[in-house]
Formats: sequence, C-alpha cells, structure tokens
Amino acid sequence: MATDGVDHMSHISQTQTPFPARSDAPRAPSRGAVRIVGAGPGSADLLTLRALDRLRDADVVVHDRLVDEAVLALAAPGARRICVGKAPGRHLWRQEEINALLLRLARGGERVVRLKGGDPLILGRGGEEVAYLRRAGVRVEIVPGVTAAAAAAATAAIPLTHRAAASSVTFVTGHGRDGLPDLDWAALARLDGTLAVYMGVANAGMLARRLIAHGLAGATPVAVVEKASHPDQRVVEGDLQGLGVLIRDHRIAAPALILIGRAVGLRATGEAGDVGEPVSRAAALLGGLAPCL
Ligand SMILES: C[S@@+](CC[C@H](N)C(=O)[O-])C[C@H]1O[C@@H](n2cnc3c(N)ncnc32)[C@H](O)[C@@H]1O
Repeated sequence: MATDGVDHMSHISQTQTPFPARSDAPRAPSRGAVRIVGAGPGSADLLTLRALDRLRDADVVVHDRLVDEAVLALAAPGARRICVGKAPGRHLWRQEEINALLLRLARGGERVVRLKGGDPLILGRGGEEVAYLRRAGVRVEIVPGVTAAAAAAATAAIPLTHRAAASSVTFVTGHGRDGLPDLDWAALARLDGTLAVYMGVANAGMLARRLIAHGLAGATPVAVVEKASHPDQRVVEGDLQGLGVLIRDHRIAAPALILIGRAVGLRATGEAGDVGEPVSRAAALLGGLAPCL
C-alpha cells in the first residue's frame, strides 16, 4: 500500500489485461484461464495475430459451429476441440452448460480458448460468458475479432458510413424469442444511418414491413451478404420493400448479413474489377465450416 493510503497495485491489476499483448513479452501464467477469442467472419486470414497467438497456446478450444475449419487448424497441435454449436442431430448446448464447461476446464488447469464467430462481444453472448467466469474467480482475456458487418461491408465494397449518406451504423439482431426482437423500430427508422442486421434472414420480410410502418422509405437500398469472406460468398441488392422477396428468390441462407440504408446504395462496383479476391487463395484451399463432429 502506498503512503497516500491508495492501493495503486490493486488498481493496476484491475485495469491491466491479465495477458501481455505482445507474444514475445513475459506471459502471465495462462493455465486455468479462459481466453474468449473472436474468430472473425470465416476466412482464416481475417484472424488477428493476437487470436492466432492465443490459439497456438491452447490446450483446449471450445468453439461455435460457424468457426471455420481453417481457423481451428491453427490451434496448437494436440489441442482438443469441443464444438458447442448447433448442428443437426447433435446435443444442443444450452448457455449454462457452456459456461459450466468453461469453468470446469479452467479449474482443471487447462489453457482454454473459447473461440466465437466474428467479435465475441457483438451478438454472441460473449458478455454472459465473461461475467459468469469472472464471478467464479476465473481470469479471462477477451480478444476482439472482425465482426460480420465489417467483413460483409468490406468484401462487398459497401460503405457502412458515408459523408453524403450515413453518419452512424447500428448493429441489431433480427431474431427474437418468437420472431422479431423487441426493438425501438421508430428510433431505428428515424436514424437515417446504416442498419446492420444479424440473424435476420428468416424474419426479413417482417423486419422490412416493420421499418416501413415506422417511416423508413420502401425505396431504401438494401444488400444481403451471404457467407461473407467465404469462398462462396454472395451479395444481392435491392430495396427495403422487396427485401423478403429478394431473400426468397435468391435462396439466401444463414449466415447472412442484411445491410439497410442510403449508404448501401453507394456500393462501389468498379468496372475495372477488384484487385483482391473476397477470399485469399490459401484460405480458400483450407476453408470450410467446422464439422462439429
Ligand atoms: C450469433 S451471430 C454472431 C455474430 C458475431 N459475434 C459477429 O461479431 O459477427 C451470427 C450471425 O452473424 C452473421 N454472420 C456471421 N458470420 C457471417 C458471415 N461470414 N457472413 C454473413 N453473416 C455472418 C449472421 O447474421 C449470423 O446469423
């Protein structure tokens, strides 16, 4: 304790990450800790270097179904994989069971990576896992990832904000307990920014009608990006009043992200074509969703 009566050390230990950011810096012991890591939108080359470092240091990787096989292949050789994602014919893990599993692994002294699609704190229940583990006294590190909205916009050349068209972007879920979530639709319609809708494919028609009923123009541009950053990514464009039909006609399936707003209409399609490919060749060769066996 310092002479001024303030415990400077405990303040520092609360605000510092328990793990150093640089992989060559001395490490805090990672046994018995959980790293909640964003895997990005799919393509392995969109993983952050920090995420790669944590994967290589893992004894066990607890992952969702939407994590790409190529990302999982980067884990330390011999690291165990536990898939807790939804898959047909498999036991569906409830959130409480996932929390309990992470706690059990950490208390068993394992170096645990909890790998989640996109960014762990955006519409992925990462916050619940962090709170549960910290309450139980487990050290936790959070590693951000490229969220699906950012990946979808970048790979489709759609500006999320634009000086001429949108000065905000709002991430919303399109999925509630019995259909659409309970959102402030009037506020969303009024924002005149870009809406990025996660998990919205099944309820897209309903979502569009709700926004139009609250004042958003039916002619507002929309784009749907299916499997952003995967080799078979697709982008379809239309307007809000036709969103449901657009998704049905093109047989869009999850994972897909819906972008709505005037900035979406400023998509730069470039007649000369693009320099990059949506997916790098290495990632395409390795790619494919984790089988969740
Ligand atoms: C449970 S949310 C997880 C979001 C994630 N935490 C993130 O930051 O991207 C899953 C939804 O994210 C969107 N999503 C995830 N990966 C995607 C991808 N590669 N392409 C398009 N949408 C994706 C879809 O809307 C999907 O239904």
